[in-house]
Amino acid sequence: MEQVVPRSREKIPATAIDGVHDDRSDTSREWNPDDGLNWWTNGFWGGMLWMMYHATGKEEYAQAARISEEKMDQCFEQYYGLHHDVGFMWIPTAVADYRLTGNEDSRRRGMHAANLLAGRFNPVGKFIRAWNDGANDTDTRGWAIIDCMLNLNLLYWAYKESRDPRFRQIAMAHADTAMEHFVRGDGSVKHIVEFNPETGEEVCDYGGQGYAPGSSWTRGQSWGLYGFILSYLHTGREAYLDTAKKIAHYFMANIPEDGLIPVDFRQPAEPVLYDDTAAAIAACGLIEIAGAVPELEKELYLSAAVKLLKSLDEKHCDWNGNTDCFLTCCSSAYHAAKHNHSLVYADSYFLEAILKLRGTDFLLW
Ligand code: GLY
Repeated sequence: MEQVVPRSREKIPATAIDGVHDDRSDTSREWNPDDGLNWWTNGFWGGMLWMMYHATGKEEYAQAARISEEKMDQCFEQYYGLHHDVGFMWIPTAVADYRLTGNEDSRRRGMHAANLLAGRFNPVGKFIRAWNDGANDTDTRGWAIIDCMLNLNLLYWAYKESRDPRFRQIAMAHADTAMEHFVRGDGSVKHIVEFNPETGEEVCDYGGQGYAPGSSWTRGQSWGLYGFILSYLHTGREAYLDTAKKIAHYFMANIPEDGLIPVDFRQPAEPVLYDDTAAAIAACGLIEIAGAVPELEKELYLSAAVKLLKSLDEKHCDWNGNTDCFLTCCSSAYHAAKHNHSLVYADSYFLEAILKLRGTDFLLW
């Protein structure tokens, strides 16, 4: 079998600069507490390698994936700087490793991360706290964000592993809160909702990484879409399937003619800003919805997913084998300083969606 040596084997990339992966594990650089090894996207490179290992059977991918998994042990030791995105960090790395190889060290890492996530649950407000207080002293004790829907999968996994229902109870309580407080009547979702951390009452919501309060940040729509269908697949609760479909209908109704997804569905026409991450994540969710609905409904979701993926492939992919990332038009937030660049998780969800269509995927989340 042909040997593969992933170029970024020793790195934990978040993006590519001039076509070359950066490295969040680079110790020669000074990082803020949650920017370096604790950066929320640090699981995606390992996840891509596990997906490739599963699809090809090549051992080199597994060996490379374990490098980032092991480096991330330092995050547990430091503890400070960890946040609710322990799901994004350890599901595609440690949990994937355990699922595919039965590695007991990986199971321990996954359970450790799940307990940290469960520890962020506010039992009065029934939500998982997203972030820690920032450098500017913003009080985030009552902040929950739609992105957390993907982190819940760590708790569903921990429940299945340990049979301790607290993990599933916390995940479902958070998902129920998100259904009630994040999903608007038209199927769009809010990014950040602030609750009173003492009483649990909703205080307000914020536009977050989107264009403005009340707008619809497209990656947030995809986190909701994919997150709710995954919650349905893990629990069988019909309300989660209905919610995923509701968000999907809103998303599909807003896909522009060219199939390219903006940063926010309510952003001004100029400047033209895209977010390929939103398209790739939504495609994964739409494919899963297609697999969960009756035969006559499937085509609606599947054809929307294929349209998104084809547009990415034809218009935004850099297939030059010398560059480290392939999707070129991503955006961390509407008001970010830089736009239309690469992000490792865009590539990861794009790969995941393609493998789903080929039938060579595995349960990553
Ligand atoms: N989870 C953070 C983001 O989507 O940017």
